[in-house]
Amino acid sequence: MPAPRNIGIVGARGHTGAELIRLIARHPLLDVAFVSSRELAGQSVAAQVPEFAGKLRYENLDAAAVAARRADAVVLALPNGMAAPFVAAIDAQNPQCVVVDLSADYRFNDTWYYGLPELTRGRYAGQRRISNPGCYATAMQLAIAPLKDMLAAPPACFGVSGYSGAGTTPSDKNDPEKLRDNLMPYALVDHTHEREVTRHLGMPVEFMPHVASYFRGITMTVNIWLDRAMTRDAILQHYRQHYAKEPLVRVVDAAPWVSTIAGRYHAEIGGFAVAPGGKRVVVVATLDNLLKGAATQAMQNLNLALGFAELEAIPHE
Ligand SMILES: NC(=O)c1ccc[n+]([C@@H]2O[C@H](COP(=O)([O-])OP(=O)(O)OC[C@H]3O[C@@H](n4cnc5c(N)ncnc54)[C@H](OP(=O)(O)O)[C@@H]3O)[C@@H](O)[C@H]2O)c1
Repeated sequence: MPAPRNIGIVGARGHTGAELIRLIARHPLLDVAFVSSRELAGQSVAAQVPEFAGKLRYENLDAAAVAARRADAVVLALPNGMAAPFVAAIDAQNPQCVVVDLSADYRFNDTWYYGLPELTRGRYAGQRRISNPGCYATAMQLAIAPLKDMLAAPPACFGVSGYSGAGTTPSDKNDPEKLRDNLMPYALVDHTHEREVTRHLGMPVEFMPHVASYFRGITMTVNIWLDRAMTRDAILQHYRQHYAKEPLVRVVDAAPWVSTIAGRYHAEIGGFAVAPGGKRVVVVATLDNLLKGAATQAMQNLNLALGFAELEAIPHE
């Protein structure tokens, strides 16, 4: 039985931080060492995350104070561009600490392990620095990976996210008024997640993101040109086989709906509409951007790095 460990969360006020606290509350071998938020400093965690029954309060901790806590693991759930001082302080004071960064800051850094477990766990070799994939990037990679060696052209990915994907800093993309009766396209070329998927799948993808008026969940509709003709049935069987041993990736027949994935911990892949001629297939993936797109995946990565069963604390049937 592995020893219990403790974990700190920086940026814990955000949507992903709150989901992670909920998951840690379910974990039999993980305790919360600290949760850091400037805005909520002094407030009870249970007030924000009722599932958390402990007496813990948010604290406002800078990088040096985070490192000085000497936690077994630290999750950085900060907006992009803010991880470096925390990583530097932990490198200096507590190098054995496992750091999982939820931002894009280290997804392009070869010295960090890129943790999309269903596709990359074979490359995990004890690294203590882990970059957690982006939410859209997770959906794209899970949807494309089984056909990766049969592509005739870059897959085109049309993504729609709930507005929790835009974080808590006010912007058009998380303003319910501006989103009402609306679908908001943005960053239609060269989005960070387009570059992330291109890098980690090792082949170009095209990605067009949109934000919708609901809170959580992503639909990723991917148009794929194959280098050979395939029947729908053969493609469906291929996906089923590819993910047969992955409880957090479910292959379904019909195109999945985002309304049924909100609050769930896994991703679904389905649709498999095949155009006449058998060389063009449209695959649909859904996931909850805050869970399999962020906190579930962070928990899988923490479990892997801390020596626990990968799915510990993660509900899955
Ligand atoms: N939302 C998603 O669906 C999703 C999915 C996958 C990955 N991610 C990534 O995960 C990270 C966290 O995202 P999120 O949506 O949970 O939260 P967020 O709203 O982007 O930010 C999280 C927290 O960081 C703190 N923060 C903001 N600016 C800061 C600054 N200048 N210095 C220090 N702290 C600051 C804020 O808390 P205080 O102001 O209280 O300190 C804020 O609540 C982001 O990098 C995001 O790209 C998000």
